Amino acid sequence: MKEQNIYILGIESSCDDTAASVIHNGKILSNVVATQKIHEAFGGVVPELASRAHQQNIVPVVHQALKKANISKEQLHAIAFTRGPGLMGSLLVGTSFAKSLAYGLDIPLIDVNHMQAHILAHFIDEDGFKKPPFPFLAMTISGGHTQIVRVDSYFKMTVIGETIDDAVGEAFDKSGKILGLGYPAGPEIDRRAKLGNPKAFKFTKPKVDGLNFSFSGFKTAVLYFIQREVKANPNFIAENLNDICASIQYTIIGILIDKLKLATKETGITHIAIGGGVSANSGIRQALKDGEQKFDWTTYVPKFEFTTDNAAMIAIVGYLKYLEGDFALQDVVASARLKI
Ligand code: KG4
Ligand code: ZN
Repeated sequence: MKEQNIYILGIESSCDDTAASVIHNGKILSNVVATQKIHEAFGGVVPELASRAHQQNIVPVVHQALKKANISKEQLHAIAFTRGPGLMGSLLVGTSFAKSLAYGLDIPLIDVNHMQAHILAHFIDEDGFKKPPFPFLAMTISGGHTQIVRVDSYFKMTVIGETIDDAVGEAFDKSGKILGLGYPAGPEIDRRAKLGNPKAFKFTKPKVDGLNFSFSGFKTAVLYFIQREVKANPNFIAENLNDICASIQYTIIGILIDKLKLATKETGITHIAIGGGVSANSGIRQALKDGEQKFDWTTYVPKFEFTTDNAAMIAIVGYLKYLEGDFALQDVVASARLKI
């Protein structure tokens, strides 16, 4: 039976976002994220700078999350934190902070797998958003991850496909860098893609067996294409930027949809949930909607603030684990390569 009036604080610090969230039963009361702007100048996340920024942000972010939720720390029932996967220096900040707070308040500590959290974000109570039924397929697409997971229950998950090199967000960001766009380039490519012709330029899709992905070859293909064209016409990028962005996005979406088609064929499961920063992409959202008509899929896209890195997804996992009495000990350690 569902216990009532449970308040849990979730803490996320696996990459470059310091985040804290308070959940009351299944409903989010606050969801605070401090995004580290410092990495923009470097065109990617600098781990050393990320951990320093987490150290600076963590107390104010947690304070704000409690304040927005209008509760005091003494009302909390447990502290949930991201144990991994992620950058070790970043994970250590959230892990140490969560341990100390749980110890000080004498309440349970709950360790959370960041990848499971991206998937279980679909179980946050939110008006207008339906929850997927078990079993379903979850595709997690972001700057750090690209996975297809078979989800049989909250904690029975099997990775059935993943990238063997770059994540899909990196394919967007690295292509953007080649084109001279800012970091991260995903949103800008998305915006420009809407104004361009997706079939203007053709990029070959990587050939990877089964449900795995590969994006490093794609990035190289974009680089060689641009170098060749710019040699012939120095203004090539400026004159064709929207068409280039549309063609890049079209190819990436094609790669993702092809694998989803194969995954549904192999598993017989047609309920598909997506998560991670790249699920904000308007093209992928449209392609999933089209899949509902074309392939009889039922698709689930969470609220935007729960799909990029956030602590609400950590808090919901904390709540589900709390109901099962699944707590961590104080000697738990962060794990950069934690698996599902
Ligand atoms: O989940 P997230 O905030 O952080 C992690 O990487 O874990 O995802 C960030 C990634 C970046 O690669 C960014 O370019 C991409 O998500 N992204 C997008 C869009 N919005 C964010 N990619 C394509 N289209 C978008 N609209
Ligand atoms: Zn993530």
